[in-house]
Amino acid sequence: MGIRTHNCGELSKSDVKKSVSLAGWINSVRTHGQIIFVDLRDRYGKTQLVLNDESLLKIGKTLSMEDVISIEGIVSPRDNNLINPDLSTGHIEVIVSSIKVLSNAKPLPLSIHDREASTEEHRLKYRYLELRNNDLQKNLIIRHQTSQIVREFLSNNNFLEIETPVLMKSTPEGARDYLVPSRVHNGQFYALPQSPQMYKQLFMIAGLDRYFQIVKCFRDEDLRSDRQPEFTQIDIEMSFVDEDDVRNTIEKLIREVFSKVINVSMKKPFPILSYYDAIERYGTDKPDLRFGLEILDFKDLADKSGFNAFKNAEDVRLISAPNADFFSRKVIDELDSYAQSHGAKGLAWFKVKEGSFEGGISKFFSDDLQKEIINQLNLKDDTISFMVGDKKSNTLNVLGRIRNLIAEKLELKDNSIFEPVWIVDFPLFSWNEDSKRFDSVNHPFTAPKDKDIDKVLNNPEEVISKGYDIVINGYEVAGGSIRIYDNELQRNIFKILDLNDDEIKEKFGFFIDALKYGTPPHGGIAFGLDRLVMLLSGVNNIRDVIAFPKTTSASALMEEAPSHVSKDQLDELGIKVLDSEKDV
Ligand code: AMO
Repeated sequence: MGIRTHNCGELSKSDVKKSVSLAGWINSVRTHGQIIFVDLRDRYGKTQLVLNDESLLKIGKTLSMEDVISIEGIVSPRDNNLINPDLSTGHIEVIVSSIKVLSNAKPLPLSIHDREASTEEHRLKYRYLELRNNDLQKNLIIRHQTSQIVREFLSNNNFLEIETPVLMKSTPEGARDYLVPSRVHNGQFYALPQSPQMYKQLFMIAGLDRYFQIVKCFRDEDLRSDRQPEFTQIDIEMSFVDEDDVRNTIEKLIREVFSKVINVSMKKPFPILSYYDAIERYGTDKPDLRFGLEILDFKDLADKSGFNAFKNAEDVRLISAPNADFFSRKVIDELDSYAQSHGAKGLAWFKVKEGSFEGGISKFFSDDLQKEIINQLNLKDDTISFMVGDKKSNTLNVLGRIRNLIAEKLELKDNSIFEPVWIVDFPLFSWNEDSKRFDSVNHPFTAPKDKDIDKVLNNPEEVISKGYDIVINGYEVAGGSIRIYDNELQRNIFKILDLNDDEIKEKFGFFIDALKYGTPPHGGIAFGLDRLVMLLSGVNNIRDVIAFPKTTSASALMEEAPSHVSKDQLDELGIKVLDSEKDV
């Protein structure tokens, strides 16, 4: 018999009386007089082993948790009262005839089954042990299945999986680049790709027509619970398409993934919301549509009240939430500090009880005005309204955040529900007050709407783009656009972005040139695979779906990267680190 004939999640009643061999980790050892029960674990499950012979008991007593052993034995049915219905192998046990300790384990520095018992830093240091945890293994299995289904779907639809370079030219694309110094070309640098955007467009120019790649991207930006410095995209590009074509293909792909990986059938077709409406109604372009709590315009009504702070404000918005009694003074204070930490001067509130206002700023509203507000905004009894008065961008931003926090507190974010929405009609540019120039909202290759092409040079702020994002449960899961395929228009866009002719030539010359030689209309999209898998796994932390993630300060705690390098290595690259104390 080999080291294992079966895995630890495989044996069932139909295997009774079979001679088998198993191998795995010791999950638990229980001694009952002259019998030792061992739960043997591997990726597939757990199997109960029974040691009941003198020599085996001797070895059994030396076993510790997480030792790796192999055994031979006979599958035997469990007594009816000992059946464990929660285990796939719960109807059987294996009566061991021989046992071999393959590898002893020292006491572990963390608990595998209780992740919360250790800090995340500690767990990341021993990530290879944490990865023995069942939930993390499940997430990685979901990740694997997602990639396989994506590959299968796209290959079946004529997409070719083509790799793009990892060492590329540094180009301004949004975030900061990770740079790689060149030894051969001293003083020069490659950049790691923030995304393969230009390469995939070049594939379209090359006539490759439909491309995809599951690809690592690198961005040196501030990290959050849904961002990593290196993350994975499902990158897609198609020729001879418009926005509807891309959206239709991508919806099919998303439906296929959700149905095959977690057996969820998604809405058909996905709703479409303009960027403007998303901001007006939810205060964000990544709205979580699992719950309502829409933001309402309160300026005209507030102006009729005696509350001067609102009368003086450019804009006043309101959000009404159910379950007024849940909002104790303590909860309201917490929401108020949260609003202030995001730039609000304060968070005003009142409750609606039996047809009139109660608490907060109620006294500034006459009885008649209260009735008018309740009717006009359709405010229900036993609700609480929160209001912010400020510049419009602030009122919406703050209430968008308050909306999310309220939903968390009221437990309205159910991870088994999926609410996808397309966000479209983004502005092409946004004004950057700090550097006094326009930035691309998406990236510089996104096409303007046909009707707005004439405005690009004269009224850039009014131009709407052919960009689209897909948002699911408040996460931007994918973003893309129809691209510019006209060389002159592309050059003009770079000019609006404040690049002069020399800079355009230096940074993007090869690309602008390529557009001259027969370019098909094309467009595409890129998913954040990690974010997609987060949703499919029902977790809220991107690190839980990545085998070896970085911390929020972009460190790898296990292998301790980044790290200093030797002076010889630096010399060879022609690099001198200014803080020389840190040189090794
Ligand atoms: P974009 O920058 O929107 O578009 O990225 C596409 C998707 O990648 C995911 N994503 C991230 N995931 C984890 N950590 C990060 N730091 C991170 N940054 C982005 C998001 C996002 O929607 N080239 C274009 C795509 C195109 O136009 O086709 C691009 O990269 O889910």
